[in-house]
Amino acid sequence: MKIDILTLFPKMFDGFLSESIIKRAIESNKVTVNTHNIRDFSNDKHKKVDDTPYGGGAGMVLMCQPIFDAVEKLKSDKSRIVLMTPQGITYNQKMAYNLSKKEHLIFICGHYEGFDERIRSIADIEISIGDFVLTGGELPAMIITDSIVRLLDGVIDSESHENDSFVDNLLDYPAYTKPRNFKGMEVPDVLLSGNHKEIEKWRQTEKMIRTLQRRPDLVNHKKGYLITKENKTNEVAYIEFDKINGFEISPKNDARRDDIISINKMLIVKPSFITKVIKLKVDNRMKKLYDKFNYLLTTDDEDSTAHLLDEAVRYRGFIIKNYADFMDKKHFNLISKKLQIIINELNIKLRLINEIKENELSGKSR
Ligand SMILES: C[S@@+](CC[C@H](N)C(=O)[O-])C[C@H]1O[C@@H](n2cnc3c(N)ncnc32)[C@H](O)[C@@H]1O
Repeated sequence: MKIDILTLFPKMFDGFLSESIIKRAIESNKVTVNTHNIRDFSNDKHKKVDDTPYGGGAGMVLMCQPIFDAVEKLKSDKSRIVLMTPQGITYNQKMAYNLSKKEHLIFICGHYEGFDERIRSIADIEISIGDFVLTGGELPAMIITDSIVRLLDGVIDSESHENDSFVDNLLDYPAYTKPRNFKGMEVPDVLLSGNHKEIEKWRQTEKMIRTLQRRPDLVNHKKGYLITKENKTNEVAYIEFDKINGFEISPKNDARRDDIISINKMLIVKPSFITKVIKLKVDNRMKKLYDKFNYLLTTDDEDSTAHLLDEAVRYRGFIIKNYADFMDKKHFNLISKKLQIIINELNIKLRLINEIKENELSGKSR
C-alpha cells in the first residue's frame, strides 16, 4: 500500500512515521508513506497557498491550484482521494478496513479556516474523525494512517485485530496481566484455569456485556434487556438493548415495589447466571412434581398417576431439549436420575393399579 499526504506541515509527521509499529511497517515495505508540502505545488512566485475568503470573514482559505495540481501529479487509476474535514463521514473501524484494502490513498489536510469548496470535487471520500474541530487535517491523517496500517497483512498479529473493539459490532473483552492480585483486585479465575473453551466463552460473554453497558447503540437486532450489578457499588443497572443470543425468560411474578424493577421479559447473556436461573426454575418445578408424587403414594387414583407420569416424561424431554446446554453437568445428571426414578415408580404403580383392577374384575366374574 502507498499513502501520500498533502500537508502544509510535513514535519508534524516525523515522529509519527519514525516510531513503533508504523516505523516497522515502513521498514518492512508493508506500506510507503510520503508527505508532500502543498507549498511545493504552488504556481505563485511567493509559494502562496491560501488567501482571504470571498465575502469576507475570518481566517485564510486553502486555494484550489496547489491541491488540484498535487493530486493530478500523484494520482493513478488505483488512487482514492481522501479529504480531511469535520464535515465528512465520521470515521470508524469499518472504514479503516475498507481503506486498508486500497492500493493507493492520497490524504488532503486542510489548515487554518479550511479549504476552497471546489476542492471537494476531487475527493472520493470526505472523512471526519469526530464532532470537534482541529487546527488542521494532519492529526486526522495520522489517526487514519495508523488505523489502516495496523490492519495490513503482516504488520501485527492478525489475531490481535480480529478481536478488536468494533469487529462484529462488539467492544473488546477485558484483558489482565501479572500480577494475579493487584491492590486487592483479582484476575478472574477463569483466565487462570487453562480451559481454553471456558476462557473463550467468558471473553465472548464479556464482549456482549461491555457493549450492552457502554455502547448499546452498536448492537442492532430485536429489543431486549440487560440487568447487571456494579461490582463496586452494588448498584443495579437496567439497560434496554437490541437483542443478541442469550437465554430469554419471562418472570411470572410482577414485583410491585418501588425498589424492584418489574419486567415482563429478560434476556440473560452471562452463562453462569443462566445456569443459576435454570437451577432455580428446575428445582422449583421438581419440588412441585415431588409434592404431587408423594400425594399419589397415598392413593390409587389411576388418572392422576397417568397424568403425573405424562408430566414427568414431558418435563424430562423439555429439560434435555431446552436446558441441558446451560445446566451444570452434576445438576443435570441428578435431575435426570430423579425424574427417571419418578417415571419408573409411576409406571410400576400404574401396572399395580391395573393388576388390582383386573384381579377385582376376574374375582367378580367368578
Ligand atoms: C479549523 S479546521 C476548518 C474547519 C471548518 N471551518 C469547518 O468548520 O468545517 C481546519 C482543517 O482541519 C481539518 N480538521 C479539523 N477538524 C477535523 C475533524 N474533526 N476531522 C477531520 N479533519 C478535521 C480539516 O482538514 C480542516 O479543513
